[in-house]
Amino acid sequence: MAVKNVMTEDYLRSSYGGESMAHMRYLTWADMADDEKVPNIGRLFRAIAYAELVHANNHFKVLEDKKNDYTVTAGAVFGRGTTVENLQGAINGELHEVEQMYPAYLQVAEFQDEKEAKRSFHFALEAEKIHAALFKDAQDAAKEGEDLKMDSVHVCPICGHTVLDEAPEKCPICGAKKEVYKSF
Ligand SMILES: [Fe+2]
Ligand SMILES: [Fe+2]
Repeated sequence: MAVKNVMTEDYLRSSYGGESMAHMRYLTWADMADDEKVPNIGRLFRAIAYAELVHANNHFKVLEDKKNDYTVTAGAVFGRGTTVENLQGAINGELHEVEQMYPAYLQVAEFQDEKEAKRSFHFALEAEKIHAALFKDAQDAAKEGEDLKMDSVHVCPICGHTVLDEAPEKCPICGAKKEVYKSF
C-alpha cells in the first residue's frame, strides 16, 4: 500500500486540494497579468501553475489505491486584484506552505515512516521556497510598473523545481536531467 496511516493520508489529500486550487488560481492571475501588459509575469504564473500540477499529481499518485469519495479541506487564497496584489496572494500562499504546512506534514510522514508521502511533501516544500522568491522578484518589478526581466522559465516535471532562463544539467531537488524540463 502506498500510504498506511490515516493522518498522512489526510495531509496528502489536503495538499492535493491546495495544489489543485493553486494551479487554477495562478492560471487566472496569469490571464490578468497579460491584461496588465506584463506578459513575463503571466508566463511565470503559468509555469508555476504547472509546477503545482506536478505537486498535485505526485500527491494523487501516493493516494492511488484510496478509491473513494472524500470531502477535502484545504487552504486556498482568494481574490482578484491588480497583479501586484495577486502576487502578494501568491507569496502569502507559498510562504504558508514553506513555513507551516509542508514542514508539519513532512514531520508527520517521517514519524509514520511513510516513504512515498515524504518524497512528495519534500519535493513540494523545496519547490515552493523557490516559488516564493520568484513571485517576490516579480512583485518588485510590478511595483515599479515593469515586467519581470527573464528570457524563459523551466519547470522539472518530477518535483516542480522552477528556474529562470536556463534549466540546470541536473535538477537540484530530484536529480532529473535537463532534457525533461518543461519550458515556458
Ligand atoms: Fe508553489
Ligand atoms: Fe526535479
